Amino acid sequence: MAVVTFISHDGEKHEAPLEDDQSLMQVAVDNMVPGVDGDCGGEAACGTCHVFVDDQWVDTVGRSGPVEEEMLAMNPEREPTSRLSCQMRVSESWDGLVVRLPEFQM
Ligand code: FES
Repeated sequence: MAVVTFISHDGEKHEAPLEDDQSLMQVAVDNMVPGVDGDCGGEAACGTCHVFVDDQWVDTVGRSGPVEEEMLAMNPEREPTSRLSCQMRVSESWDGLVVRLPEFQM
């Protein structure tokens, strides 16, 4: 089983199974990972699914697109590897993916 690890701002780790074609936000919500809200249901309209992709995974998972960028640009916690997890279609080939979570979702 492929697994993603979410690391909260205080270092707590939460693992969740990855299944093809889900969004990473949905993976987090379905597995009750604290710190990922997904308030808009995955429309790239709320920014409450913000994650920081581990540097080692950026090339594999890809960078943010233009719609995502508009939302991320408004976030003061934005980092170079920021993504909206609702815009990330996961693959079981991403086994071992690590993302960090911001202290606050906004
Ligand atoms: S769930 Fe709203 S932007 Fe991702």
